[in-house]
Amino acid sequence: TRADTVVIFGITGDLAFKKLLPALYHLALRGGLGVPVVGVARSRWEDGRLVATARKAVEEVRPDVDEPAFEELAGRLSMVSGDYADEGLYRRLAERLEGAEHPVFYLAVPPAVFGDAVDGLRAAGLADRGRVVVEKPFGYDASSSRALDDKLRSAFPAERILRMDHYLGKEPVEGLLALRFANAFFEPMWNREHIAKVEITLAEKFGTQGRAGFYDAAGAVRDVLQNHALQIAALIAMEPPATAEQVQEARVDALRHMRPLSLDTTVRGQYLGYQDEPGVAPGSTTETYVATRLSVDTARWRGVPFVLRAGKNLRENATDVVIGLRRPTGALFAGADSGSGSPEGNQLHLRLGRDDGLTFSLQVKSPGPDAVSRTVRVPLDLETVLGPRQEAYERLLDDAMRGRSDRFVDPRVIEEQWRIVGPLLDPEQAPLPYEPGGWGPAEAERLGVDAHPERSAP
Ligand code: BG6
Repeated sequence: TRADTVVIFGITGDLAFKKLLPALYHLALRGGLGVPVVGVARSRWEDGRLVATARKAVEEVRPDVDEPAFEELAGRLSMVSGDYADEGLYRRLAERLEGAEHPVFYLAVPPAVFGDAVDGLRAAGLADRGRVVVEKPFGYDASSSRALDDKLRSAFPAERILRMDHYLGKEPVEGLLALRFANAFFEPMWNREHIAKVEITLAEKFGTQGRAGFYDAAGAVRDVLQNHALQIAALIAMEPPATAEQVQEARVDALRHMRPLSLDTTVRGQYLGYQDEPGVAPGSTTETYVATRLSVDTARWRGVPFVLRAGKNLRENATDVVIGLRRPTGALFAGADSGSGSPEGNQLHLRLGRDDGLTFSLQVKSPGPDAVSRTVRVPLDLETVLGPRQEAYERLLDDAMRGRSDRFVDPRVIEEQWRIVGPLLDPEQAPLPYEPGGWGPAEAERLGVDAHPERSAP
């Protein structure tokens, strides 16, 4: 059943401004909104202020605002304000929702008020009908995550709880499934026989962007490694699911076979200047960079390092996977750019961020009399081929409104993710400092982290 109202807790916050309001606008633009949107927040905003904020939020991403679409959104927005711990807030919300049979409650609120919001919804009888969408952070470790889950389940039945990792809503991330399972090229080589290394990079050129207060309590491991990076790793590592329904099982299974990460094979970093940002605790040891080696204990992957790295204030924005193939065994050609005889191994470089696409590195014969090959890169830009695609938040909001759950996170996945990153949480030693604008601490090279192949050498 389709939702008949969308309620956004935390409508005055950063996530609503950057992602949720633009997503609602895009839904309106495509004719997929059609229901009232109630914003809930502590700040006492008039409806007019919400509409003005929505306008700004939309202009940030789409300066050429489509007026009828914006008018649709504006006409559907209203506010309910109050303290999350005050039952009066939920009473007023219940009045506003009178007649709504299938509301969606999107909880874009900080972990500290999460429990109050769930309790309030339950006490007001609102949890009996709607679906609830929650976003990471799912707690700050395995046990707090379980407590949070218990809280949710105390109010909502399991099938109406949608846990969101927006990476699962990204077309290019979902596209990994098509790449692997809708092509005959890749699956035969997708194993330890042919692949020497998998490298997953989540690099951002910018720092904490005014979210240092939140970020300092999290760090790169909790912010993106535990969730986004491991989701990508699972899509790369999973066994072929027999049917679409089996994808969730295959994902859970892949994560179950990942060993817990170890500090011995991890490099943590913190960019210079981080400590001076407002919201960062004095002497903070929070990592803004992490690189680590993950082992996937399956027949397919045993011995193949999955090198994961994520960081802020790095040289480039990149959400990349590099699949490094083994060197060919034949001695017919010497590699012009491998430095050591045989040609360098082919690479499949998958870009999952803004400029999504893929690049093959191929060996071609070097012109001239000698039996020498050299590397050429063959890029494919998917934006050119497919045009712009829907943004993750729009797709996932639409799914939540339709009650489609397959792009949301299975709670067993979250358990496994916390198990895997557990040993990296809050270690005693301080992270290594690094200069903003580079590729993080040089020590990460010992883990097999390469300078970025294509981006550093176009
Ligand atoms: C969020 C993190 O989950 O993902 C942010 O909290 C990060 O710190 C963001 O910047 C990255 O998402 P995207 O879609 O820009 O790759």
